[in-house]
Amino acid sequence: MKNKILVTGGAGYIGTHTCIALHEAGYEIVVYDNLSNSSREAINRVSTLIGQPIEFIEGDIRDAESLKQVFLSHHFFGVIHFAGLKAVGESVAKPLMYYNNNVSGTITLLEIMAKFNVKNLVFSSSATVYGDPESLPIDENSPRSCTNPYGQSKLTVEHILEDLAVSDDSWNLIPLRYFNPVGAHPSGQIGEDPNDIPNNLMPYISQVAVGKLAKLNIFGNDYQTIDGTGVRDFIHVTDLAQGHVAALNYLERQVAPVGFLPINLGTGKGTSVLELVTAFSKVSGQPIPYQFADRRAGDIASCYASADKAKNLLEWQAKLSITEMCQDSWRWQSMNPNGYTVT
Ligand code: NAD
Ligand code: UFG
Repeated sequence: MKNKILVTGGAGYIGTHTCIALHEAGYEIVVYDNLSNSSREAINRVSTLIGQPIEFIEGDIRDAESLKQVFLSHHFFGVIHFAGLKAVGESVAKPLMYYNNNVSGTITLLEIMAKFNVKNLVFSSSATVYGDPESLPIDENSPRSCTNPYGQSKLTVEHILEDLAVSDDSWNLIPLRYFNPVGAHPSGQIGEDPNDIPNNLMPYISQVAVGKLAKLNIFGNDYQTIDGTGVRDFIHVTDLAQGHVAALNYLERQVAPVGFLPINLGTGKGTSVLELVTAFSKVSGQPIPYQFADRRAGDIASCYASADKAKNLLEWQAKLSITEMCQDSWRWQSMNPNGYTVT
């Protein structure tokens, strides 16, 4: 048995897929989640997929006493920290809630880690920290700036991690900057389960294909891109999950602390909104009615990663294609039209 890992937010979309990848790689896992944007059913399904119960603790990262109990009961090699709120629009309406959850929560977690001398952290950052990029592909040294409280909360945590690494050189702090995670586990048992009408493109397309939503609004067709629609670096969530395993394996290999080490997780390829719609329609055999609408406030034209640092340091690269991303999203959506809610 390999090292034990605390997975905060492990009941969520990326967390569940990562728990499976960690288990397959031989890590022992403990999931800590307040279920504010997830469900026990997701945990049950992960348990079924891995063939054994998951150790799950319902708790909030802002609750220092509860976290302390978890650290007293387990000896962790490190923490993968997914827990946080992620809806950009909601963050504009409720900035204090976002800073409280994402920033204060992370500070509480870091304080407990310091107390128990657990100094390995893999943090869910985002390509959103690059703002409107000056050049493409985006590498890790690109300037960072954010225009909404969600993005600002991620950037603030990155600054905190940088300061922490300067203050004490025994920390290993890896913010993984995700590009656009999509897709689902190939079993069709776990996937993204938005509470409400989806904000993000792939779940929206899936719900149009399954007949829950009438048509897709494509936000802008006058960008300077291949077909005028936005371009993003879509990455399969199981590839992303493997990126976390690779980050932990990397930390296990190190003989000296790495300090603050940001790494992009993307494919390095851009795909336009229209290209994704066409690919999804082909894979699912369903029409995806759409109409062009105004640009969405705060959106950028194009965003895709330089994936070289992950390849060189972590020996990881994304493998799955846009077709596989659409196939797996469609399998999840069509097998679970109401997500984890059993009706
Ligand atoms: P998700 O909402 O599915 O998962 C987050 C999990 O954290 C949920 O299970 C939620 O219940 C839990 N959580 C939230 N606040 C908590 C708290 N205070 N204490 C304990 N648990 C808490 O989101 P996801 O898509 O899996 O994203 C995981 C992480 O990756 C988030 O930090 C998100 O900001 C980041 N991220 C996501 C994307 C994306 O497009 N999905 C892109 C870049 C970064
Ligand atoms: N889009 C539409 N119609 C929709 C939804 C999206 O046309 O109904 C377009 C957007 O305008 C954009 C593209 O599809 O051009 C992708 O939009 P998403 O909302 O799926 O993703 P974003 O790139 O805007 O943002 C996502 C996450 C952020 C994260 C960012 C970078 O939502 O949290 O990726 O990682 F910060």
